[in-house]
Amino acid sequence: RALMAGVIRRLDEAVVNRIAAGEVIQRPANAIKEMIENCLDAKSTSIQVVVKEGGLKLIQVQDNGCGIRKEDLDIVCERFTTSKLQKFEDLASISTYGFRGEALASISHVAHVTVTTKTADAKCAYRATYSDGKIKAPPKPCAGNQGTQITVEDLFYNVNTRRKALKNPNEEYAKILEVVSRYAIHNSGISFSVKKQGDTVSDVRTLSNASTVDNIRSIFGNAVSRELIEVDCEDASLAFNLKGYITNANYSVKKCIFLLFINHRLVESAALRKAIETVYAAYLPKSMHPFLYLSLEIAPQNVDVNVHPTKHEVHFLHEDSILERVQQHVESKLLGSNSSRMYFTQTLLPGADCSSSEVVKSAGNSSAVTKGTGDKVYAHQMVRTDSREQKLDAFLQPVNNPLSTGPTEGTMEVNAGPPEGAVRPQDAEMEDISDIVEMADVQEDTAMPGGLNDSGRLSPEAVPPRKRPREDTDVEMEKDDTRKDMTAACTPRRRIINLTSVLTLQEEISNQAHASKQ
Ligand SMILES: Nc1ncnc2c1ncn2[C@@H]1O[C@H](COP(=O)(O)OP(=O)(O)OP(=O)(O)O)[C@@H](O)[C@H]1O
Ligand SMILES: [Mg+2]
Repeated sequence: RALMAGVIRRLDEAVVNRIAAGEVIQRPANAIKEMIENCLDAKSTSIQVVVKEGGLKLIQVQDNGCGIRKEDLDIVCERFTTSKLQKFEDLASISTYGFRGEALASISHVAHVTVTTKTADAKCAYRATYSDGKIKAPPKPCAGNQGTQITVEDLFYNVNTRRKALKNPNEEYAKILEVVSRYAIHNSGISFSVKKQGDTVSDVRTLSNASTVDNIRSIFGNAVSRELIEVDCEDASLAFNLKGYITNANYSVKKCIFLLFINHRLVESAALRKAIETVYAAYLPKSMHPFLYLSLEIAPQNVDVNVHPTKHEVHFLHEDSILERVQQHVESKLLGSNSSRMYFTQTLLPGADCSSSEVVKSAGNSSAVTKGTGDKVYAHQMVRTDSREQKLDAFLQPVNNPLSTGPTEGTMEVNAGPPEGAVRPQDAEMEDISDIVEMADVQEDTAMPGGLNDSGRLSPEAVPPRKRPREDTDVEMEKDDTRKDMTAACTPRRRIINLTSVLTLQEEISNQAHASKQ
């Protein structure tokens, strides 16, 4: 049988463009990410997203940025047209998100695009519609505020297979909320909102005067925001710096929530995720995970942003060393925050022996629990200094003021921990949180597949009431805790935690292994 060689033909340009577009835009959330990055590049301070049918029917992104010059509207949706990059060398020091001039072009090859825009010095706004990269008619003058509004309709109208693969609008909407809320957290100072067309209330909304922690609170809830530790580390020799917030050992969730930005781009790094999860594994209950928001800045000349069409993946030099430094820093923060939290105070109870009141234990050195005075410490002599736990009032007065949290006379509080609010009881609340997540899981299975996205974040739709679900549940937990405080019969709980560096332990183990082999 003779093998026939295939004939090589040049692909039709429209086919080429559609294939290329598919690499940049795989789903509505990708398109929204590209559009948000354009808004940020345009120095906007307000970015509003409206979608219909999970973005498949309509995506509208409105900003108040610099706008697009009327003269540029003709080519704005053509491939490789950009106001950001001029020569290849610029890539090494690129400070904008965009550089390829491909995003709008790609979108226009798989959807109907309308751009309405006004620059500061233009007398009015202009509107134009695009198809397959080309403007359909000359821009029309119209009314409009400074900034740009881009409307994307009927995404993948001409790509049957893609449209069929994306038939769950709820799942797409959850992805959209995930992307926008991550950008919102990373860009405090800029207000973001996302809502479904026709809704009056936004599902994600941040204000321009809100801090990063405010934004984490409004998006992920109090349960996360009150357990945050700030991370901040710089390494001149590796030319990177790390900023962000991570949860302490009091918080855990079934799926790791990891918001990672490298040079302000939202990316994934399996290696970094694994490195950090290794650290947390030692401090969190089995198969539970942390929340992390990390912003890593690496010298631009050490980062290659051009390795993936969606820019989702970035590679950088000294990856292993940087990961190790980040790992060390995260662990030191975890240990630091916890060694100041886990402690015992010996309290002067009415009629108790004064000599034992000076016993103060720090968990950083758990042997101290039996050291010091050498006296045995009895349960009835101990009081937890966590104000949310059993209080002295419970012993001294009848239960009548559930809100009293002030310091009680007779309490010797030494080595006071972080302020109230940062200090939480452990076990009870852990269960509460996992209950919520379980509840959300159930909801997801029944009501809304994909409502809980793969990073574990609760989409606002996953838990009724729909808006700000976490805060409502927090209030309930707060009440529960208060009730528990008031149970006079409950004995103070004693918890000894000896926190030792896992990294150090791992090193010791491997050293021992080497030694025994020799
Ligand atoms: N919201 C916006 N405000 C102002 N200008 C915009 C906006 N969106 C797009 N533009 C202009 O349109 C051009 C093309 O945008 P597009 O996203 O396609 O390419 P890019 O951002 O330059 O590069 P990349 O493909 O890497 O995103 C931009 O360079 C910018 O000049
Ligand atoms: Mg762009």
